[in-house]
Amino acid sequence: MLESASKIFNGPDGPVMVAFSEATREQRVQCSKLAAVTFGNPLSEADYLERDAYLGQRLLTRNNGWRYWCLYRVDNPNQIFATCKTIRRDILVRDASGVHKEPGFCLASVVTDFRYRRHGLASLLLTRVAEWLDGPGNAAASMLYTSIGNAWQFYVDRGWKMQRAFQSTLSWRHIASSDRMSLPITRALTRKDISSLCERDVEDIETKFEKLAVGSNEIHMAVVPTEEIISWLHDRAVFTSVKISGQVPQSHGRLCESADVWLYWFHDFRKQQLAVQRVGGHMEESDLQTAAIARLLLDALEEASKWNLAKVVVWNPSSGLTCAMKILEEGFGVEVETEERIGRSIPSVRWKGSNETQAITVQLNEFYAWS
Ligand SMILES: CC(C)(COP(=O)(O)OP(=O)(O)OC[C@H]1O[C@@H](n2cnc3c(N)ncnc32)[C@H](O)[C@@H]1OP(=O)(O)O)[C@@H](O)C(=O)NCCC(=O)NCCS
Repeated sequence: MLESASKIFNGPDGPVMVAFSEATREQRVQCSKLAAVTFGNPLSEADYLERDAYLGQRLLTRNNGWRYWCLYRVDNPNQIFATCKTIRRDILVRDASGVHKEPGFCLASVVTDFRYRRHGLASLLLTRVAEWLDGPGNAAASMLYTSIGNAWQFYVDRGWKMQRAFQSTLSWRHIASSDRMSLPITRALTRKDISSLCERDVEDIETKFEKLAVGSNEIHMAVVPTEEIISWLHDRAVFTSVKISGQVPQSHGRLCESADVWLYWFHDFRKQQLAVQRVGGHMEESDLQTAAIARLLLDALEEASKWNLAKVVVWNPSSGLTCAMKILEEGFGVEVETEERIGRSIPSVRWKGSNETQAITVQLNEFYAWS
């Protein structure tokens, strides 16, 4: 537990003494309630709190894998003014010294009680959290996904630099009669598959990172796509689905064995979309592989339809994916829209100590790393 000196802030009702700390068990409940107001939909407050408790037991987030931070009222510690979470993740780093794994974090659910906004509270909270990240948290880097529209400068000024982000959105224009049997066969992924595919994926990424040429002030980083991080979003989707419809999504991705490519997806009931978390495989951009990716995307569209999700989204599509989407547009009645993501879920990175002398490039800017 980390607690810092208290500070007076001039709130709408006069001066109040606030302090920053990692939330106690009681404060965590209040933090979740505050976050539920902004981030709860489609869950009720009670279900959102239950989901937080459930996710806190998953492999990624148990044992301090996620921490709640808060600014609270000193004379009434259960009154929370502002809160956020940090969620652990490993980061693969390629710099002039080689390839190494480092501890990293994602900041999530940053929120200030609406009665106390524009009083500098979120700024104070983020300053304190950054001190923890640079100190006891020992983070090489931290990320967040900003969705505050034109107010993105807020995070930039506090050290989290935005990365450009692109996305393709796929939806059925009409179901074309083209013969999907012309595309390679795919099969469902099991949890066990995900574990071994993640291991292979990480090995491949390490090899690619080794081959990158980097200058002395350059850093390439990627969130490591582990089974823990991939499955965490699956567990989250299952929990949400059970609460809103009583049904359990069984399918979390598919694999094409003949082309050795696969993808994982996440049912995003809040944004009414199926998000492709990661497209994995040894990419060689052969015709077979392009056709296999097209088939996997069709599978994703079918899964989305099954859950009444209007679209499939893919973040930062590779050239192989772009070719696959072309096949779907031309032969399968799929509408594809590719655009830069502005004002929504923009990945932003802060290097340890807000070090700005290093040029940071985030590789694999795909959905799996989102929280
Ligand atoms: C974003 C948020 C946490 C900021 O909290 P806060 O305590 O008001 O922040 P601060 O007072 O420290 O800083 C205010 C700054 O935030 C920026 N800002 C944040 N949200 C803004 C918005 N919706 N419109 C305009 N400016 C905004 C402004 O730059 C403002 O600076 P200014 O007052 O000097 O103009 C708060 O608005 C909030 O809880 N929003 C809802 C939840 C949310 O969207 N969280 C962010 C998810 S990425």
